[in-house]
Amino acid sequence: MARVCSSFLLLVLVLVSSVAMATEPSPLQDFCVADKNAQVLVNGFACKNPSLVQADDFYFDGLRMRGNTSNAVGSKVSLVTVEQVPGLNTLGISMARVDYEPGGLNPPHVHSRATELFTVLEGTIEVGFVTSNPENRFITKVLHKGDVFVFPFRLVHFQRNIGNVNALAISTLSSQNPGIVTIANAVFGSKPDISSDILAKAFQTSNEVIENLQFKF
Ligand SMILES: *[C@@H]1O[C@H](CO)[C@@H](O)[C@H](O)[C@H]1NC(C)=O
Repeated sequence: MARVCSSFLLLVLVLVSSVAMATEPSPLQDFCVADKNAQVLVNGFACKNPSLVQADDFYFDGLRMRGNTSNAVGSKVSLVTVEQVPGLNTLGISMARVDYEPGGLNPPHVHSRATELFTVLEGTIEVGFVTSNPENRFITKVLHKGDVFVFPFRLVHFQRNIGNVNALAISTLSSQNPGIVTIANAVFGSKPDISSDILAKAFQTSNEVIENLQFKF
């Protein structure tokens, strides 16, 4: 009997610990509105005094307008993370509005800390992501208004408006601070530059091609 009990206990422990490792820990209080001025450094932001918290700490009106897509890629990501809404601190969620002009591209990027759930509100959008080495399988799909697609945690992904009118999408992200690493900017636009020798070898091309890309980014 004791042996059955202890194996059962072990099973429970294994299940509990695998759940704990698979997700972020749950909040330990109703909210922890980010106090951006706090001197104490923690993982995330320190909490504002709860009695000073206001409705505006949970509010954002910055998605009312279409994002300005007059740029090299023809798309604009308007984020709603803990940076814009302090009330998101510790809650493990954020979102973005993404606007695209015809042909507009949200270029290949990764989110350092989040899985993304992407919903098309207007237009026709081609999406894709690439799996890890060694397969590097490219998984792609054309989405229409109302369609939803998942970009798994930390995988390289992109979206492109393939329609001839503007497109609009909403992304939800499983972190209050998802992080964005745009591949081209990180690789060719770092400050200071990564040595062109390194990138020429990595991309199996000439220093000239790399320097041209570094100039653009
Ligand atoms: C959109 O961005 C472009 C390029 O930065 C700028 O010239 C233009 O004035 C902006 N348009 C609006 C409506 O803000």
